[in-house]
Amino acid sequence: MDIKGIGIINFFNPLLLLMFFVVSICANIEMLDDIDYRYELDDGEWEMVERKGNQFMIGGQPFYVNGFNTYWLMMLAVDQSTRGKVTDVFQQASSVGLSVCRTWAFNDGQWRALQKSPSVYDEDVFKALDFVVNEARKHKIRLILSLTNNWEAYGGKAQYVKWGKAAGLNLTSDDDFFTDPTIKGYYKTHVKTVLNRVNTFTNISYKDDPTIFGWELMNEPRCLSDPSGDKLQTWIQEMAFYVKSIDLKHLLGTGVEGFYGPSTQDRIQFNPNTFAGQVGTDFIKNHQVLGIDYASAHIYPDAWLSNTISQAHIQFVRSWMQSHIDDAENVLNMPVVFGEFGVSAKDGNYNQTYRDMFIGMVYNTMLNSTKRGGSGGGCLLWQLFPQGTEYMDDGYSIVLSKTPTTANILSLQSRRLQLFNSRCTWRCHWGCKKKSDLDLVFPLDDTM
Ligand SMILES: *[C@@H]1O[C@H](CO)[C@@H](O)[C@H](O)[C@H]1NC(C)=O
Ligand SMILES: *[C@@H]1O[C@H](CO)[C@@H](O)[C@H](O)[C@H]1NC(C)=O
Ligand SMILES: *[C@@H]1O[C@H](CO)[C@@H](O)[C@H](O)[C@H]1NC(C)=O
Ligand SMILES: *[C@@H]1O[C@H](CO)[C@@H](O)[C@H](O)[C@H]1NC(C)=O
Repeated sequence: MDIKGIGIINFFNPLLLLMFFVVSICANIEMLDDIDYRYELDDGEWEMVERKGNQFMIGGQPFYVNGFNTYWLMMLAVDQSTRGKVTDVFQQASSVGLSVCRTWAFNDGQWRALQKSPSVYDEDVFKALDFVVNEARKHKIRLILSLTNNWEAYGGKAQYVKWGKAAGLNLTSDDDFFTDPTIKGYYKTHVKTVLNRVNTFTNISYKDDPTIFGWELMNEPRCLSDPSGDKLQTWIQEMAFYVKSIDLKHLLGTGVEGFYGPSTQDRIQFNPNTFAGQVGTDFIKNHQVLGIDYASAHIYPDAWLSNTISQAHIQFVRSWMQSHIDDAENVLNMPVVFGEFGVSAKDGNYNQTYRDMFIGMVYNTMLNSTKRGGSGGGCLLWQLFPQGTEYMDDGYSIVLSKTPTTANILSLQSRRLQLFNSRCTWRCHWGCKKKSDLDLVFPLDDTM
């Protein structure tokens, strides 16, 4: 199916054309038929992202996220010979209008570690992270910074537990990360160190920098040792409070994959499988914690259902997204960000057309919420790579210069969101609030 064509208005219909002009002048954007559309960057102040009810806002205007993941930025920024890749990826992302990047603000005890051991930091690596933040700002891209990992890549909870054992603690499981007082202290020190860091390129402390969209407690936390979810819940409560005690300005997310847990038996049916409900996370409860500003979910039918693509993947993605958007709206009253979604080229039945269709479907489901002012706050592709970094490909990598069809889909979604993000400015109080105008520009293709 022709994803690029979805939602493009019929330029031969004079009435539609007129309506389109009204909306586009109002929102101060260029015509959608201009292929080389350039994202006009507001010269205005670079303000902090806020949250009002179920929407993100910047300076009183809505802010919907079209974003991407690149976990490796800090690591490649350490070495001058690879630092240019950071600039490349920001440049390419901004050329298709992506406005938020999710990346790691941790590397615990591994190669090129930021935190070499508890409370011991490598200044060169911190400067590399400073570089990443400054470079993002130059490209008008905001960062979601994740503070540690559930998985062993870049250290994470296993490394914290190793440090604890080396210090003589009697620890028996990596999940002791969530409960041991000393380990929790190590994590808090990391949080404090990153949030209070003064960027050596800008002299702006991280906790005051609007380039940072928000913090994420952990990438994909799970606590299998306690399927009731209580251990992780208590940890989220304690750490959310701690982050806010240092930084009240930035938004805070959990980083969970979004599985429904024991507190919502009626929602378990939306999980990809039975196991997902027993990993110690609980979508609703985890996001009702004081200090958590937006809900988090990931979308991986290939990792969760089967690594061979089938019709079941499509059906799962639709109901998974819709249930999370509905719950964020009706129960949590906060935006939900799908912090990771992607398809691996290593999947059975994989082809480029399918990946494009998958991305288009995720975007369309988002837009269906966006156009109602719903809780769908945005989604971030896993994952973007610049040319010359293919050696790091995990199967999910997208190199925009090599996949023009995908680049077009991202670009179109950015333009659509840009229009929503321009609503209700001082220029157009009279017209932009009218949802009907937007409906004309964004009719959804329900056949997807
Ligand atoms: C370590 O902790 C485990 C479980 O909490 C306990 O069974 C064990 O006796 C402890 N070992 C020592 C040396 O304290
Ligand atoms: C940061 O602050 C230091 C010390 O006040 C000053 O020397 C330096 O020029 C400042 N750098 C920037 C980029 O503002
Ligand atoms: C691409 O993959 C999808 C899903 O597996 C399949 O339905 C479709 O026929 C494939 N298209 C091509 C051109 O191979
Ligand atoms: C659009 O959103 C409505 C309301 O949440 C939902 O009922 C409907 O299924 C959605 N449609 C699509 C195509 O996602």
